[in-house]
Amino acid sequence: MTEYETILVERRGRVGWITLNRPQALNALNSQLAQEVTAAAVAFDADHGIGAIVVTGSEKAFAAGADIKEMESMSAADMRATDHFGAWDDFAAVRTPVIAAVSGFALGGGCELAMMCDIILAADTAKFGQPEINLGVIPGMGGTQRLIRAVGYYKAAELILSGRMMGAEEAERAGLVSRVVPASDLLTEATTLADTIASKGLPSLYAAKAALDAAMETPLADGLAHEKQAFAALFDTADQKEGMSAFREKRSPDFTNR
Ligand code: CAA
Repeated sequence: MTEYETILVERRGRVGWITLNRPQALNALNSQLAQEVTAAAVAFDADHGIGAIVVTGSEKAFAAGADIKEMESMSAADMRATDHFGAWDDFAAVRTPVIAAVSGFALGGGCELAMMCDIILAADTAKFGQPEINLGVIPGMGGTQRLIRAVGYYKAAELILSGRMMGAEEAERAGLVSRVVPASDLLTEATTLADTIASKGLPSLYAAKAALDAAMETPLADGLAHEKQAFAALFDTADQKEGMSAFREKRSPDFTNR
């Protein structure tokens, strides 16, 4: 199997497991991790012995967001030219059902990665949120579009505009999470669910996922294109530089509205 540096990849029966593994950065999603998760998922997707994929993190963090230190000095032109989060489009497009098994922080890109999956199982320790506003930016991996579809406009607006985190129970009530389980049971529950899904026929699994995606997608593409432009444009603001350097320097940001 291919060697990866930021993830662990394992095949268990008909299920492909991808474990995010940058513990020093709470599994922050840098470009290498995005490439590796996507490559692993695409490889599982091409393997007809695989009927489900599980993406998980550590006990403390599913993922604490896109890697702020990698983005901090980027300009709007860099953001657009590199299509910074573009690798995730191929992850979101896999035909195989994907389960996110979330323990601890799922923030920013971490929450957005969970929402690219088809089912979110949460440990009772899970915390979801879109804190990008605290960094002088907005969600950039689909959060402004997918969170509304998951929890409705008003709850999504509160979370995105305030940066507040919500716990697993609240996320389940809101419809983001399909089930909350004790943290110690998360991987067992994910295994049972993934094995059940993987025992079905691939054509019907692919067809069911494609139909579910179609329901979500209808006006999604336009919204995502809008988000991509708006996210990149913020990288020409002083507030983005201030928000991200304040994070690195472990202080509160002093936004100047420029
Ligand atoms: N990017 C880069 N590094 C990160 C990170 C991130 N998103 N989140 C955490 N880290 C790093 C920290 O800088 C720290 O590294 P050092 O030890 O070198 O200082 C290490 O991971 C451990 O983090 P903390 O010491 O901060 O851990 P904590 O338990 O005190 O706090 C936390 C945990 C509340 C999740 C806090 O780490 C945090 O607020 N992280 C940032 C969350 C965030 O803003 N996410 C959004 C990112 S932008 C984005 O995702 C854009 C998009 O839409 C795609």
